[in-house]
Amino acid sequence: MITLPGLIDTHVHLREPGATHKEDFETGTSAAVAGGYTTVLDMPNNPEPTITPGALQRKINLATKRIYSDVGFHFGATINSSQYFQQIKDKVFGLKVYMNHTTGTLLQEDPKILQIIFEKWPKDKVLMVHAEGETLQKAIDLARKNNNKLHVCHVSLASEIRLIQQAKVQGLSISCEVTAHHLFLTKNDAKRLGVFGMMRPPLENPDVLWKAIADRTIDMIASDHAPHTKEEKLGPNPPNGVPGLETTLPLLLTAAYEGKLTIEDIIRLCHTNPAKIFNIPVQKDTFVEIDPTIRYTLYARRLYTKCKWTPFQGKRVKGKVKRVVLRGQTIFKDGEIIGNPRGKVISPL
Ligand code: DOR
Ligand code: ZN
Ligand code: ZN
Repeated sequence: MITLPGLIDTHVHLREPGATHKEDFETGTSAAVAGGYTTVLDMPNNPEPTITPGALQRKINLATKRIYSDVGFHFGATINSSQYFQQIKDKVFGLKVYMNHTTGTLLQEDPKILQIIFEKWPKDKVLMVHAEGETLQKAIDLARKNNNKLHVCHVSLASEIRLIQQAKVQGLSISCEVTAHHLFLTKNDAKRLGVFGMMRPPLENPDVLWKAIADRTIDMIASDHAPHTKEEKLGPNPPNGVPGLETTLPLLLTAAYEGKLTIEDIIRLCHTNPAKIFNIPVQKDTFVEIDPTIRYTLYARRLYTKCKWTPFQGKRVKGKVKRVVLRGQTIFKDGEIIGNPRGKVISPL
């Protein structure tokens, strides 16, 4: 048995309220726990986006008593939401700024508006960007000018890695995450998977990202768990995004078995660094027991996520979550969620 601390996923889309046909707080946090995560941070790009104190409070109310893992929230950036920054800053973990087109309506492209957002967000709190390729340079320039604590979501390109390395050398406060789908799937997989391999940013060359894990440019691994139904994926306007909460840890354990990273790396990338960077409260008596010897196949029908598909269908992995303990209580054992939802809505330290 290997014992890991309760893992932290700082980038998930639990979809409630407004898109609960894709996922909700119960199914999403069940998936989190089954995947070894005891803390997840939820993104704001819902049909009813988290961009006002009222919307945030509604999320908190809806999640309370229905979550199996702890859940924290990110706030969404718009020109109008900036008036609320002082009011909500102690309740959320980060501000999410969408600088490229993706799911939802939060895209911000106007440089003047972006400047106001970067200027107004508290400097000691994480400002997360969805900024692909060339756009990342704009985000870094804005963060440099405004002294922000910048976090780059889902890096996927060598050019992005280079920009982040440069910014780190220059002493900027910058961190970044990589997703399991960008680490374990290639452009060929994208062709094979069709709409089920479509996400923003798209799949690129994983070798670049593994190198950046080895040289410690990458600070954390996040799932970017972004469930959509099969019907939506197969429909006329397939949305971008793939689920990931239940497949990320088994894939990482398999990579550890293959020598691509160590168990200590997994702990640093999925617990210690996310906790430090996002000021996540410590969970007492909380851990995840892994049996590293079990080989099994990832199948969608065994998943707790409501969308019931995975781009990793049929993949052989080694290393399984046996038991999850949250604050002294067993909440997951041998594939089953145990007991009532014991997760809490959390705010940063
Ligand atoms: O693929 C993605 N899906 N990328 C995003 O940035 C958003 C996400 C979603 O919410 O579906
Ligand atoms: Zn994104
Ligand atoms: Zn996302």
